[in-house]
Amino acid sequence: MTDIDFHTTAGRLTDLAERLSEAATGNPRAIEKQHEKGKRTARERLEQLLDEGSFVELDSLRRHHSTNFGMEANRPYGDGVVTGYGTIEGREVCVFAQDFTVLGGSLGQVSGEKITKIQDLALRTGRPIIGISDSGGARIQEGVASLGGYSEIFFRNVRASGVIPQISLIMGPCAGGAVYSPAITDFTIMVDQTSHMFITGPDVVRAVTGEDVGMEELGGARTHNAVAGNAHYLASDETDALEYVKHLLSYLPSNNLDEPPAYESKDFELDVTATDLELDTVIPDSANQPYDMHKVLESVLDDGEFLETQALFAKNIITGFGRLDGKPVGVVANQPMHFAGCLDIDASEKAARFIRFCDAFNIPIISFVDVPGFLPGTSQEHDGIIRRGAKLIYAYAEATVPKLTVVTRKDYGGAYCVMGSKGVGADLNLAWPTAEIAVMGSQGAVNILYRRELAKADDEQAKRAELMAEYEEKLNNPYVAAELGYIDAVIQPRETRAMLVRGLRMNASKRDELPAKKHGNIPL
Ligand code: HXC
Repeated sequence: MTDIDFHTTAGRLTDLAERLSEAATGNPRAIEKQHEKGKRTARERLEQLLDEGSFVELDSLRRHHSTNFGMEANRPYGDGVVTGYGTIEGREVCVFAQDFTVLGGSLGQVSGEKITKIQDLALRTGRPIIGISDSGGARIQEGVASLGGYSEIFFRNVRASGVIPQISLIMGPCAGGAVYSPAITDFTIMVDQTSHMFITGPDVVRAVTGEDVGMEELGGARTHNAVAGNAHYLASDETDALEYVKHLLSYLPSNNLDEPPAYESKDFELDVTATDLELDTVIPDSANQPYDMHKVLESVLDDGEFLETQALFAKNIITGFGRLDGKPVGVVANQPMHFAGCLDIDASEKAARFIRFCDAFNIPIISFVDVPGFLPGTSQEHDGIIRRGAKLIYAYAEATVPKLTVVTRKDYGGAYCVMGSKGVGADLNLAWPTAEIAVMGSQGAVNILYRRELAKADDEQAKRAELMAEYEEKLNNPYVAAELGYIDAVIQPRETRAMLVRGLRMNASKRDELPAKKHGNIPL
């Protein structure tokens, strides 16, 4: 510290500048180590996330008062987390970033209070909050005070759920109970190779279960994106992760009372375009042949832009955001390229949570349906597909935002009911002429209905083919559903975009409220 005369104003100004500089500079050796691991510091990350020069830091001079285990000799400013607010694309957001270069980013009483202060500010002002995790977890020297800090963070995560968007970036270790904050937030982004989440690390796993597993396999970004379903995006590096967050935010309102950000709509573009016409040839002639549902989404959404969430998990259902008529929509779509688009536990839970997010934040839900049914088998039954598949029905039925559904091909059995049917409260149900809406496909139906006739037939195969053709003509089309009003209109695929835009405009003034209750009891 320079020789400062505290009796003068100039001296005091210099003193403040030096303190702030010390708080912002950090330990060069720790920063070098951080960079060697391919990671940036908390401040570098915030600088890239926020609009240039917009960051306002709070509590940069806070320090812990712990005296345990020699802690009194190590009281760095900031206490291992950088907190404050700034703007992204001109919109205010609250942020916190754990600083691994200071006390390993570990969470003590003071750093916990810094985070909860910024959570309170975000909730009070209705601003999205983005948290960056890079931490050794609960600060061992501070014991229960650090555990208490985590509890208070979780409490606020829950209270803010459905009120402001909460986004977690995992950019280093996130261990033990600390993982439950990202788990409660709406979206979790992880960076390939440098981020890890686990309840207990490889050493504890080995000691307790004898299982030999590495950090990456146990809780790396790929594991959480593709296997466990805890993460929503696998970023190739830190820049990719931060850019994804900015892109994601561009679809979200700042809070549940705000409108999602909209572009000006383009009326003239409702005429059929060359891209719309391509939809007429998307569905293969053979019902067993898959096609990529992404192609449908890219044709229908504004500028062909779609931001997918959880792209690597439960690939049999696609979720993500796009725009129609300039306004954000949430998309839920069966993907015939994986398990023929069957619903299973993972797909049901993935889509249910996405729908509930959209509903909480006034984002209309567009469903594209090509679903042969629920995935059969003991593994699914024993893992609870009854209870866990029910979440998707619950989410659709509970959502009061506009819900528009397009049936492109198969729509069978219980999966018909679940996937945004009229009965679970959809506002507009459209079907292409290629739609097959029935209790089951022709083969299964004929086997059950005509078991005796088939057994008696001279040529069983020919008889089966004849009966299947009859069934398909009678029941396997959209027209029975259209006659009964379960489908509002059967349309040419090329008309889909214009019909959805008109449907959204019509339903923009939708009023729908759930009966007064404390809260429902979703099957968990
Ligand atoms: C105090 C910690 C710390 C912790 C790391 N540090 N974790 N200090 N409490 N939990 C310190 C280290 O002592 C070291 O200080 C500095 O941070 C950097 O750590 P390194 O170990 O040198 O870094 P690295 O080799 O990269 O290893 C990172 C790590 C490892 C894998 C995260 O530090 C580690 O295993 N930490 C403990 C993880 C853990 O078990 N946490 C508790 C989980 S339970 P110096 O001074 O040497 O630079 C939990 C409960 C949450 O968090 C409760 C919620 C309900």
